[in-house]
Amino acid sequence: MDKNEALRQRDLAVLWHPTTQMKDHEWLPLLPVSSGNGVWLKDMQGKRYIDAISSWWVNLFGHANPHISGAVAEQAQCLEHVILAGVTHEPAVRLAEKLVDITPPGLERVFFADSGASAVEISLKMSFHYWRNTGDEGRTRFVTLSNSYHGDTLGALSVGDAGLFKSAYEPLLMEPLVAPSPDCFALPRSEWDRHAENKLADMREIFARHEGEICAVIIEPLVQCAGGMRMYPASYLSGLRSLCDEYNIHLIADEIAVGFARTGSMFACEQGGISPDFMCVSKGLTGGYLPMSAVLTSEQVYTAFYAEYTTLRGFLHSHSYTGNALACAAALATLELFEQRDVLADNRRLARLMLESVSELQDDEHIGDIRQTGMILAVEMVAQREPMIQYDWKERRGMKVYQHALQQGVLLRPIGNTVYFMPPYVINPDEIGLIASAAIDGIRLATAD
Ligand SMILES: Cc1ncc(COP(=O)(O)O)c(C=O)c1O
Repeated sequence: MDKNEALRQRDLAVLWHPTTQMKDHEWLPLLPVSSGNGVWLKDMQGKRYIDAISSWWVNLFGHANPHISGAVAEQAQCLEHVILAGVTHEPAVRLAEKLVDITPPGLERVFFADSGASAVEISLKMSFHYWRNTGDEGRTRFVTLSNSYHGDTLGALSVGDAGLFKSAYEPLLMEPLVAPSPDCFALPRSEWDRHAENKLADMREIFARHEGEICAVIIEPLVQCAGGMRMYPASYLSGLRSLCDEYNIHLIADEIAVGFARTGSMFACEQGGISPDFMCVSKGLTGGYLPMSAVLTSEQVYTAFYAEYTTLRGFLHSHSYTGNALACAAALATLELFEQRDVLADNRRLARLMLESVSELQDDEHIGDIRQTGMILAVEMVAQREPMIQYDWKERRGMKVYQHALQQGVLLRPIGNTVYFMPPYVINPDEIGLIASAAIDGIRLATAD
């Protein structure tokens, strides 16, 4: 038995994998990874694979990045972790200072947590609690966008709209108000702003109908990633900020997937020229090294919680690993890498190459949409282009692309019928070519019948 197979068998005897129907692994072999370097992963037999999806969108500067690895190793020699309640340490303070510095103006307080979903939970609780603390106790509802995703814990799941992840748990969940997404699927760019404006009108209606009931609206700025890399223009962000101001409703920007230069600016909110009331960051925060997240908010929100202990106005929320020193060191080292070169300018060049690399699919009768926002490129497979007929997701055509690409040494992970590239920023033009050729061949195979 080869080393890959041996590890697979041991795994299947004890492990339960995330977002996986484990029965699939009766026919779909796990990929056993022994090491990583840059955009490359190596299996137990030495075969190499390009990580075209940045390992669930967390990796920014490659696997085993010497600068980040060195910083984590150095920190581990000194302080690995310490309780953050009643205690502080230099890496946590430096990281908080840095985050305040690089995020949009007005975000001046940083609350650390350990996953994207926990950051979302914190932003929801803080918003709700802020209104209570300021005497506005009638506010109990959240607004979300259709097709949104904010994580899998019960609170985060509640404010998402991903039926597949959510339906089994419906009886346990809060009920959000759902506004139609500004998703511009299959629309020409020239129509995006008009489409966004229409969707803002729908949002206004919800705000007006539920005046005084809403704590916050939560959005994924510019790209609904888990919803199939659905994209919309920055004009929606600025319009929504104005609406939130008009109706006195918090805006929560979930930048967990799109933060840290994924969309062409350091944070997606910048493109709309807006500051949210809460910003959730995670994933790329530590360059893909360690689990960590943060919620940034304003001094005004912070002040509403500042009182004598016995008033119960404080934010009594924690996670054991909050402010973990190793994660802080990884995050600081990641942010240093942004200072060493013009990552945004380099990414613009890479993004152009990514788009060019799939140009031959432009007129394919089974491609319904090719869309791009910064370092996220998505190609949608459809049964028919005009008039458009989408494939039933149960056909699992994306899985065929996944399998083919893996044989070619490329790790893709299509979402339904959406094949996307979201590679680490250290990818080179040849590697983009390899991803594209594996994806294009895979798409042709998957759409052949
Ligand atoms: C926009 C967004 N929010 C929240 C999350 C949840 O993050 P985590 O998986 O770290 O809990 C994700 C994960 O994909 C995400 O894309």
